[in-house]
Amino acid sequence: MRVLALETSCDETAAAVVEVRDARVHVLADVVHSQTLHARFGGVVPELASRAHAEQLVPTVRAALAAAGIDRPDAVAATAGPGLIGAVLVGLSFAKAAALGWGVPLVGVNHLEGHLLSALLEPRAPAFPFLSLVVSGGHTTLYEARGLGDYRVVCETTDDAVGEAFDKVARMLGLGYPGGPRVEECARSGDPRAIPFPMPRPAGRPIDLSFSGLKTAVRTWIERHPEAKVEDIAASFQDTVARYLVDRVQQGVAATGLRRVAIGGGAAANTRLRERLAETDLDLYLPPRARCTDNAAMIGNVAALHLAAGRAPWGLEATARARWEVGT
Ligand code: KG4
Ligand code: ZN
Repeated sequence: MRVLALETSCDETAAAVVEVRDARVHVLADVVHSQTLHARFGGVVPELASRAHAEQLVPTVRAALAAAGIDRPDAVAATAGPGLIGAVLVGLSFAKAAALGWGVPLVGVNHLEGHLLSALLEPRAPAFPFLSLVVSGGHTTLYEARGLGDYRVVCETTDDAVGEAFDKVARMLGLGYPGGPRVEECARSGDPRAIPFPMPRPAGRPIDLSFSGLKTAVRTWIERHPEAKVEDIAASFQDTVARYLVDRVQQGVAATGLRRVAIGGGAAANTRLRERLAETDLDLYLPPRARCTDNAAMIGNVAALHLAAGRAPWGLEATARARWEVGT
């Protein structure tokens, strides 16, 4: 069974073709068109993102089908949320029309489930149950993945997401958009031990995380130390985030007894985070960077797994959702 999957929840227009073979999901094509037009605005402009998806979907889908060597898939999947509602609508509506035209099933996929399970696409994949840390532009959650469609939140941010914190710190440091990769690049020539930023414990929720406090600490430091090197601030912030996340993963491991740990989401592409995780003795499953940032292969993965299990939850009735907790 071959599934054409679309992802349009933010500023990536992506299409992939995946195939279920030998009880595993294989990627036959994986095309990502990153919208660069937002750079001059310093962040994603939702209306422009929707228009760009509408323009890019046909060439992106054509490229994915050609790369997979097929004319017609056996099912179509698309992100149905969470994300920018207009952007999600473009991809989901396109997918519904394509599924109707080809007379094949449609699967509406939760974008977070895509990140949560993206490690399953790798040849060395974690077996259920495992922990999965999703660190994206809108979410920072450690899940216990007990089985397909069965997820429990172990800990999460009480305010901003990791990616959001990277984007805001990038703006404070004048590094521009996209924030995460810019901070990472700048941090390369900085000293990660230069500044002792805090790792806040939200009141009454010791295992959870808070990034607004860390963000404020960075802002205060910049104001009080105008002489500080931008590279040192970027490196110290990045290393604090990495140690903070590793600490919470280790708490999650202690609380659940699970040592298999996967990661996903744009901030999981961060080299420092990956290095800090690698320093632990955990059984790690780190997808390649391009499978951490938004892509359609991870959407195809979720759809194919649910279809193979005979219970794809969302069909043609799927509606676009700006907010959508995973597993609901
Ligand atoms: O998963 P993603 O591509 O889209 C969402 O689902 O939100 O994540 C985007 C987020 C952005 O906030 C971006 O700054 C962050 O991931 N990001 C990174 C890196 N690459 C992307 N953060 C830190 N280091 C990176 N290398
Ligand atoms: Zn994402």
